[in-house]
Amino acid sequence: MALLRRLFSTILCLYFFSLQVQCQPSFAPILPPSYPLAVKNPYLSAWLPGNQTADLPSAVPQFWTGQELTWSVIARVDGQAYSLFGVPEPVSGIKSASFKSAEYTSTHTTFTLEAGAAIFTLDFFSPVSLNDYVRQSMPFSYLIVSASGLDGAAPSLQVYSDMDNSWTGQFGENVQTNWNYALSSASTQVFTLTSGGTAMFSEVEDMAQWGTAVYCTKPSTSTISPSLGDMATVRSSFANNGSLPGDWDWKPGSVIALSHDLGAVSTHHNVTFAVGYVRQVDVNYMSTPRAGYWKSAASDINMACVRALLDFKAADAEGRALDAGIASRATAAGGGNYSDVVSLSVRQVFGAFDVTVPEEDLSKTEDVMAFVKEISSNGNVNTIDVIMPISPTLFVIAPEYIRLLLEPVMQYLDTGAWPHQYTIHDLGTHYPNATGHNDGVAEEMPVEECGNIIVLAYMYQLASGNIEWASNYASLFRQYADYLVLNGLYPTLQLSSDDGAGPVANRTGLAIKAAIALNAYGVMTGQSNYSDTGRQFADELYEQTAGTDADRTHFTLTQRDDNSWGIGYNLFLDVLLKLDTFPTEAYAMQTNYYQHVRAEAGLALDSRVDWGKTDWMNFAAATAMAEGVGNEGVRDMLVGDVHAFLASGQNTAPFSDNFFGETNGSDVAGIYNIYRARPVVGGHFALMALGGPNQNQLQASDGGYEKRSEGGGS
Ligand SMILES: *[C@@H]1O[C@H](CO)[C@@H](O)[C@H](O)[C@H]1NC(C)=O
Ligand SMILES: *[C@@H]1O[C@H](CO)[C@@H](O)[C@H](O)[C@H]1NC(C)=O
Ligand SMILES: *[C@@H]1O[C@H](CO)[C@@H](O)[C@H](O)[C@H]1NC(C)=O
Ligand SMILES: *[C@@H]1O[C@H](CO)[C@@H](O)[C@H](O)[C@H]1NC(C)=O
Ligand SMILES: *[C@@H]1O[C@H](CO)[C@@H](O)[C@H](O)[C@H]1NC(C)=O
Ligand SMILES: *[C@@H]1O[C@H](CO)[C@@H](O)[C@H](O)[C@H]1NC(C)=O
Ligand SMILES: *[C@@H]1O[C@H](CO)[C@@H](O)[C@H](O)[C@H]1NC(C)=O
Ligand SMILES: *[C@@H]1O[C@H](CO)[C@@H](O)[C@H](O)[C@H]1NC(C)=O
Repeated sequence: MALLRRLFSTILCLYFFSLQVQCQPSFAPILPPSYPLAVKNPYLSAWLPGNQTADLPSAVPQFWTGQELTWSVIARVDGQAYSLFGVPEPVSGIKSASFKSAEYTSTHTTFTLEAGAAIFTLDFFSPVSLNDYVRQSMPFSYLIVSASGLDGAAPSLQVYSDMDNSWTGQFGENVQTNWNYALSSASTQVFTLTSGGTAMFSEVEDMAQWGTAVYCTKPSTSTISPSLGDMATVRSSFANNGSLPGDWDWKPGSVIALSHDLGAVSTHHNVTFAVGYVRQVDVNYMSTPRAGYWKSAASDINMACVRALLDFKAADAEGRALDAGIASRATAAGGGNYSDVVSLSVRQVFGAFDVTVPEEDLSKTEDVMAFVKEISSNGNVNTIDVIMPISPTLFVIAPEYIRLLLEPVMQYLDTGAWPHQYTIHDLGTHYPNATGHNDGVAEEMPVEECGNIIVLAYMYQLASGNIEWASNYASLFRQYADYLVLNGLYPTLQLSSDDGAGPVANRTGLAIKAAIALNAYGVMTGQSNYSDTGRQFADELYEQTAGTDADRTHFTLTQRDDNSWGIGYNLFLDVLLKLDTFPTEAYAMQTNYYQHVRAEAGLALDSRVDWGKTDWMNFAAATAMAEGVGNEGVRDMLVGDVHAFLASGQNTAPFSDNFFGETNGSDVAGIYNIYRARPVVGGHFALMALGGPNQNQLQASDGGYEKRSEGGGS
């Protein structure tokens, strides 16, 4: 599908060309709201709003929050300078290159431009590694600039790139910035910028203050010149002279710059830069701070950048295989639209993670824990109801991450410091302070999180085959299951995961979750009486209509309120885990209802609000494809609405999971509501997850998996 469309846009281009019309830029597979550029962890998260792409030479990248980052690329072609990217202020003697095309895959964003007798591609690559924790935790992304001569020309080329201390979260005039330059091993030239006078573990507008921005490159049959100095002076000196004097004295407005002289280039030449933000310690976890897992391999900052460049080839090979695998499996599961949605979600999911080892003993690589920031909504650490929507991605391509994210939570709960019977909402109010809530004060979602944590534990067991792990915390899971037995069917007035829409008593969705979680707990621990209780809940909700309207056309939002409804995303968990807590007719009923309540631009969360959630829409799309339901029309409606939200050209936030389904006052159908760059877009893998876990390790034809019934803990 994507390939066909690409071909189509090429033909369109040639057609216009033959009519002597300026060839329009092409976007494959679509022009998204925002392109991931360097999206690797919560503090290395650079994006380019899609509406700036057409004028790429003057486009300015942004941190996910929207603060502008200085990051430019300029090239000289036979002595004439062209801005390629990130040069909003005019530089004398410089021209703008001509933007041709943009493309994204799961791990790459690639732009193509023409400048004089050369064609350039800027390939922004953020590795996603499923099993290599060093690679995944390395706080670096890459920019690969490739050049070729046009039509057999062999122009003489120089490629320049710079950045500044905006990457350290420092924007004022009076900020203190310490810089360093080193010619390190493998001829790697490394610049670093470190903020002075800032506090450990502190943020300013979500940017970390306790680390160092790093930019490095090494020769690739090229000669490198480094420079540091006033931005306008350094850029114009490169543009006009191809040289980089610089005054090597950091002042406000200075940049660090690296340029490559490639000589004459005919067929293909590329140079690679690594850009990073390195924290001394990643996460403040209880009394034992955690460092990036990569530090077990290279703890010095300069060596880390050297290592990132040395790892490029292998990381790129892994990334390209992942890109192709995800695109083909997603297309098979839900068509080209679905592939476009899923591919744009991958970096955003893994880019919210830190993978860590204990700071006090970096060699303890068996003690690995992952942390996730609840980006944008409130910054909480390892929020259980954020891990839940992320989980389909992990189930499909990296099940061990479910355990790595739950482990720090379970270890904390196991200390007994959390004083409630029900499980916790998150491990800390604001990233990176994963210090728990010993005072018992955290956002309260008792039924939601007890249900989630049990379902996640069982999902991990099913996907990984590791039946030992949950048994380490058997008494905690038992406590949460017993809590659901008592409180799950008729939940008191409380929040669900959709806290923005407010609390509800007797929320049907929570009772559905409790039913499924109890069944999961029974299967996971070999105690069939818990499964029986879960099925009794389900019977009450569906057969006895406690959770449906009287005519059984849909599940309600609030029990006994027939006119209320909500998206039944929890049913997906029953389908995914093959638990059969609810009968197939229940999935079919709810699926069928969506087409009656879908608003102009998409299905709302529930009958109270005019906005919808892309993650839950995909959970519903997957439920529509449950065995015995197979409602492709509803699947395509749900996937198509998310796709239209992305492809309309009317939105610019890093993939938001929340947009308006209808126009109501200042709310406009199809437009972004709130939330940017959240990892919950991992929920977009729900439809693919029906094909089974570990799809990265299977051939396309495989995918069957069975419910696991071995007893684990007790
Ligand atoms: C892109 O959209 C934003 C709003 O999200 C707007 O402020 C900005 O002016 C637009 N930029 C261009 C180049 O259209
Ligand atoms: C984390 O805690 C430290 C105190 O230990 C504080 O200085 C810092 O501001 C906190 N960080 C955030 C992001 O809240
Ligand atoms: C170019 O180089 C010459 C000689 O080094 C210098 O005088 C001049 O200022 C440079 N021009 C720019 C724009 O940097
Ligand atoms: C960069 O150049 C090298 C050496 O010519 C080549 O092997 C590699 O495929 C190129 N990489 C890209 C991304 O074009
Ligand atoms: C919840 O539902 C139960 C059973 O129908 C009912 O007894 C209880 O009053 C309801 N609670 C609220 C707050 O409406
Ligand atoms: C299931 O059986 C065990 C063992 O008899 C008992 O302790 C537990 O309370 C029962 N739970 C339910 C939900 O029936
Ligand atoms: C429409 O807007 C009104 C006024 O802001 C608000 O009260 C109402 O809840 C909105 N309707 C929906 C479905 O969100
Ligand atoms: C794909 O999404 C677009 C909206 O971007 C929609 O118009 C189209 O109908 C969808 N295609 C399918 C097959 O659902």
